[in-house]
Amino acid sequence: MQILQDKKIVLGISGGIAAYKTPDLVRRLKEQGADVRVVMTEGAKAFITPLTLQAVSGNPVSDSLLDTQAELAMGHIELAKWADIIVIAPATADIIARIACGMANDLLSTLCLATTAPVAIAPAMNQQMWHAQATQENIAKLTSRTYHIWGPGAGEQACGDIGLGRMLEVSELVTLCNDFFAEKYLENQHWVITAGPTREAIDPVRYISNHSSGKMGYAIAHAAVSAGAKVTLISGPVAITPPIGCHVIQVNSAEEMHQQALKYAPDGTTFVACAAVADYRVANVSAQKIKKNNDAMQLDLVRNHDIVADVASLANKPFMVGFAAETQDVEQYARGKLVRKNLDLIAANDVAKSGQGFNSDNNALTLYSTIDKTDIPLANKQLVANHLVLLINQHYTAKNSIKKQ
Ligand code: C5P
Repeated sequence: MQILQDKKIVLGISGGIAAYKTPDLVRRLKEQGADVRVVMTEGAKAFITPLTLQAVSGNPVSDSLLDTQAELAMGHIELAKWADIIVIAPATADIIARIACGMANDLLSTLCLATTAPVAIAPAMNQQMWHAQATQENIAKLTSRTYHIWGPGAGEQACGDIGLGRMLEVSELVTLCNDFFAEKYLENQHWVITAGPTREAIDPVRYISNHSSGKMGYAIAHAAVSAGAKVTLISGPVAITPPIGCHVIQVNSAEEMHQQALKYAPDGTTFVACAAVADYRVANVSAQKIKKNNDAMQLDLVRNHDIVADVASLANKPFMVGFAAETQDVEQYARGKLVRKNLDLIAANDVAKSGQGFNSDNNALTLYSTIDKTDIPLANKQLVANHLVLLINQHYTAKNSIKKQ
């Protein structure tokens, strides 16, 4: 069942330009099974019509506190009680200020006072307005009252300014709604995850690297965050955005990744080595760009540290999960690495198969422990990651309960 199935979401829309994205937001939430009721401020109606939102939500739109007919249909108190969550997107500086002050001078601000449901706010405003002391004080007030503040994002704004203040993208808001309702079975756990490729410098402009996109590691980080874990994501250079809620440590080389992994792993409950770490680095990195003076050239390479093996040899090591990307004899190599690197689990994928593994959006894995194996069938990397995180936690819990006996 989808996480948002039958969830009752009140979407509050205030008067910002990002209101034009809300019909899409409603559709995406409904696609996942949510029941959405829209509440609009007067300002919102200057940007988008109630008719549009009524059509996409399949429910009447509420926009007035003092409308007798509307109060007969579903009054503001009933609506406040109906909601599993109130999401205000876009939330302008004005609605944020009014909610922070506890005002009840329109339907949306009244709902926030009248509800016991959680309220999430997706700010959207000019970057200067976002940074204004008054707005920041209001946001601090709402945070202290356990309102959820989703965003804002950074980038180009409708007014031409560049900076913080954009409403999060629709896909990000849908993800946050999912995360909000997801079962928090990893609460009190700290996952340290390596992801992406490493770059081994040859000279100031060239490097040796590989095809890892980071998608699998980032999907695991996302699955762990939405299950309630604290996540430290140690990432090589990739072109994708890290999941919201992770502590991201950007690194380039295997040496840097090694250093950061040893720094954070001792605090972790689980270490997942998903990075495609370069096995070798250049022995003498040239300080200047190397000139093409010869027909051939040699590079001397030296072995990099094995990060996962070094973390696994710590006295206070976390639960250890490695990856094995193989092109042949997958099971044999994977099991060899499991033992050699002293891991609890290893997730193996056959990168010779087309349509999965490196750079692809899909993957299939087999998870090996010393005593059993479980197949995770070919699917979108996020679904595979969700499944994998669940399995890792089952093994982790089993190991800890044996330790306690
Ligand atoms: O490269 P190899 O196939 O040995 O990788 C297996 C596992 O070891 C992966 O989890 C990878 O992230 C990890 N690894 C590492 N440090 C290395 C090489 C591999 O952590 N230098």
